[in-house]
Order: sequence, then C-alpha cells, then structure tokens
Amino acid sequence: MSRISIVGTGNMARALGRRALAGGNAVEIIGRDASKVDALAKAIGGATAGTIGAAPAGDMVILAVPYAHAAPLVRQFGNALSGKVIVDITNPFNPDLTGLVAPEGSSAAQEIAKSAPTGAHVVKAFNTVFGHVLAAHTPEDPRPLDVFIAGDDAEAKAQVSVFVESLALRPLDVGDLTSARWLEGTSVLLMRAMLGKAVPSSSFSIGLTVRD
Ligand SMILES: NC(=O)c1ccc[n+]([C@@H]2O[C@H](COP(=O)([O-])OP(=O)(O)OC[C@H]3O[C@@H](n4cnc5c(N)ncnc54)[C@H](OP(=O)(O)O)[C@@H]3O)[C@@H](O)[C@H]2O)c1
Repeated sequence: MSRISIVGTGNMARALGRRALAGGNAVEIIGRDASKVDALAKAIGGATAGTIGAAPAGDMVILAVPYAHAAPLVRQFGNALSGKVIVDITNPFNPDLTGLVAPEGSSAAQEIAKSAPTGAHVVKAFNTVFGHVLAAHTPEDPRPLDVFIAGDDAEAKAQVSVFVESLALRPLDVGDLTSARWLEGTSVLLMRAMLGKAVPSSSFSIGLTVRD
C-alpha cells in the first residue's frame, strides 16, 4: 500500500485517484479550489483533502497539473516536499503539437527537478497513458498497459513501480531522468496518432504495450 497525494482535480487526477483507491492505496487530493477537491474526493470515494503548500500526506506526490504550473507549484510547496517522491506526469506539448516547450536538451521532468527541495526525487511516469484509456482499462483487461518510469534515484523508481503494480498496470524502467525528454516526445506522437484518426476521440483508445 502506498500513500499518494495528487495535486490537481482534473481528468488525470480522477483517473489515477480512482484506480489508486481501487488498488488499496491511501489517496489525498490537493487543489486550489476546495469545492473541486471535495467533489473529486467524494466522487472517487475514500480520498482525503489536502492544501496546496502544506505538507502532503503522501510519500508520493503526483503533479496532475499542466506543465506550466508544475514547477511553480513545487516551489510553493518548498521544503514540504523534502523526502517525497515527486511524480511528474506532465506533457509539455507546444500548441500545434510540433514539439515540446521544455528547453532543448532538457525535459519537463528535469526542469521541475530544478525546483524540488533537497531530499526530494523526481520520477517521470504516466505521461504516455491517456486519461480516458486509464479510465476504461480494468485489471481484467487482457491487454496490459505499460507505464514508463524514468528517474535518477533507484529507490524512488522502485516506490513508483510498486504503486504502478497496485493499479494493475506494468511498470517499465527506461533509465535516468534524461529519458523523460523521449517519453514526452512519445506523447507527441501518441497525440498525433490519436488526432489523425477519423473517429471521435472518445471512442478511440491508444495505449502502449511494449511486451507480452
Ligand atoms: N489527459 C490525459 O490523457 C493526460 C495523459 C497523460 C498526462 N497528462 C498530463 O497530466 C496533467 C493533467 O492533465 P489533465 O488532463 O488532468 O488536465 P485537466 O483535466 O485540465 O486538469 C488540470 C488540473 O490542474 C489544476 N491546476 C492548473 N493550474 C493550477 C495551479 N496553478 N495550481 C493548482 N492546480 C492547478 C486545475 O485546477 P482548476 O480546475 O482549479 O483549474 C485542474 O484540476 C497535464 O500536465 C497533462 O499534460 C494528461
């Protein structure tokens, strides 16, 4: 059982929070709008509510907010994140999906890590898993869903892997945090593939499975 704090009350917070609770984890929802936090905590059942900037209850803090807001939020939490595993799920797409807004040679995860306090470890994960795919996927689904994990700290990646397995998904370690750039680029391809399909996006499902 992992203790998870999710910052954000949107699609990914909902999909991850619901699945995390189903997997037996303790979940805290943190957001800037208390009514949205309470509504989401109630909707997914059994989550607690936290406050931006205060010490998160979770050992793992998932940033389920747009990339532009992730590093400022980490700075706002400051030392409250010391000792935590910060899970960056963001996709720093540019508006026309031709590339990334994270600086060349870096990644969203590496930029976020620059704002993290000493003792916190940033792990990239879940960015290639679409929210609607995760919401539709069940532990009984014959098609496994892989979650790529990149980070510099082995223990932090091990913690995230245990959490991923509790969601009945498959963790796949793809190396240190420099791999985050390629994971973020992979999401650009997935988005292009999804948007290039002549079907309503709500009925289209794409998820990565890299081994049987
Ligand atoms: N959707 C997907 O399929 C998917 C898949 C993989 C990764 N991601 C990544 O996951 C992240 C969240 O995506 P999403 O689809 O869940 O987005 P979303 O539904 O638009 O939700 C974004 C959340 O971020 C919150 N937020 C924005 N700025 C904030 C701030 N300054 N402080 C606190 N909270 C703030 C919003 O709060 P308010 O409601 O109060 O505005 C909202 O709860 C993004 O980085 C995205 O790239 C998404």
